[in-house]
Amino acid sequence: MEQRKKSWAEPFKIKMVELIHMTTREEREAALKEAGYNTFLLKSKDVYIDLLTDSGTSAMSDRQWAGMMMGDEAYAGSENFYHLEAAVQNYYGYKYLVPTHQGRAAEHMISQLWIKKGDVIPGNMYFTTTRLHQELAGGTFIDVIIDEAHDPDDLHPFKGNIDLNKLQAVIDKYGADKIAYVALATAVNMAGGQPVSMQNLKDLREMTNKYGIKIVHDMTRVAENAYFIKKREEGYADKSIVDIVREICSYTDAATMSAKKDALVNIGGFLALNDWDTFERARNMVVVYEGLHTYGGLAGRDMEAIAIGITESVEENHIRARVEQVAYLGNKLVELGVPVVKPIGGHGVFLDAKKILPHLTQDQFPAQSLAAALYLDSGVRSMERGVVSAGRNKEGKNNYPKLELVRLTIPRRVYTQAHMDVVAESVLEVYENREKITGLKMVYEPEYLRFFQARFEVL
Ligand code: F0G
Repeated sequence: MEQRKKSWAEPFKIKMVELIHMTTREEREAALKEAGYNTFLLKSKDVYIDLLTDSGTSAMSDRQWAGMMMGDEAYAGSENFYHLEAAVQNYYGYKYLVPTHQGRAAEHMISQLWIKKGDVIPGNMYFTTTRLHQELAGGTFIDVIIDEAHDPDDLHPFKGNIDLNKLQAVIDKYGADKIAYVALATAVNMAGGQPVSMQNLKDLREMTNKYGIKIVHDMTRVAENAYFIKKREEGYADKSIVDIVREICSYTDAATMSAKKDALVNIGGFLALNDWDTFERARNMVVVYEGLHTYGGLAGRDMEAIAIGITESVEENHIRARVEQVAYLGNKLVELGVPVVKPIGGHGVFLDAKKILPHLTQDQFPAQSLAAALYLDSGVRSMERGVVSAGRNKEGKNNYPKLELVRLTIPRRVYTQAHMDVVAESVLEVYENREKITGLKMVYEPEYLRFFQARFEVL
């Protein structure tokens, strides 16, 4: 059934609900202090609308829940593994599958297998866990995304694109043998959920083929990227999301997947490969860290839910409603005059904390402060994506990213338009009182991925 052209509605109806808890301002004040002004350290019971992440927070369908009941919990050779393998082969086109408990386990394996000490890994903007695994394997990430991606106001339709001149400069400087692979993410998370164009992928493939360089695809949000290609790129309006997703994957050599996003499950991921040798090494390695190669840290029922989730993730009506719901919130904030990253991305709306809090320096953690203020106002939980997330470089100095953002991440199939309205109201309230936000100082910093567990005090 085709959706109406102008308005869209969720292509599902609600069969079961989860009640949410509302708090008073006093309760939120206490909870925030207790959490060290870090939204990752809040208890979910103290959160009203949870936009921390779209990871593992989706609502599964009745079909997925039915699939859970068909879990084959055999230690080896679970039937569900073969369903998942078939889904990965049919929808993504990769030949070999190694399941993992989530995305970062796949990142760990491909980093250990393909990066040698001293290698460089050019990519379209860092992602926190991905870059850490590259560094732990002895490599160095180099950002080769187009400049437009670092400018929140630039309206380039494909801000996830790789700048091939930057990539050429990396090849010229280090030599092709020092390049472990190109790390290509679709719907680039840290840039604001910005897509890569098919043309850019084709050009990248051609260039990397010339030098024998591989491409590893972080396909965590590939369906969202495909939707933007369908909507914005010439020649794709009449192609199906299924075909676009498969074409994207066809230009890459391997993929890491956090199934907790696009694939509509609460846990799971995989490494997908096209070459047998790496597959043999990866499925040997997975038994050390995750579990046997036919379950990789997942229950049989989890693999079934992913297999079904993959088929639902590429349904036209699903992906349209998903991305357009994000756009609904984003456009509302734009109309209200709140500075956000434009164009609106696929999985969330990103507030431009540098512009909202010009009176704070980056050392006063503007995005962290803004996320805390938003929680205090309404119990809406968001996430810092700025200097805290960017961490430190190898010399131990803070990285200062150009983008200092607060991410309002929309879980899939969970919240309604009315929730989006309430979120917009609260963001506006905080925006109108922005002068009162005084910044934070970090009082505890963990060694790895500090944004998850760092603690702060109000300046
Ligand atoms: N790659 C991307 C682009 C991601 O967004 C994530 C997770 C991962 C890899 C790692 O996958 O969590 O399953 O181990 N992103 C979450 C987020 C945490 O909130 O953006 P994972």
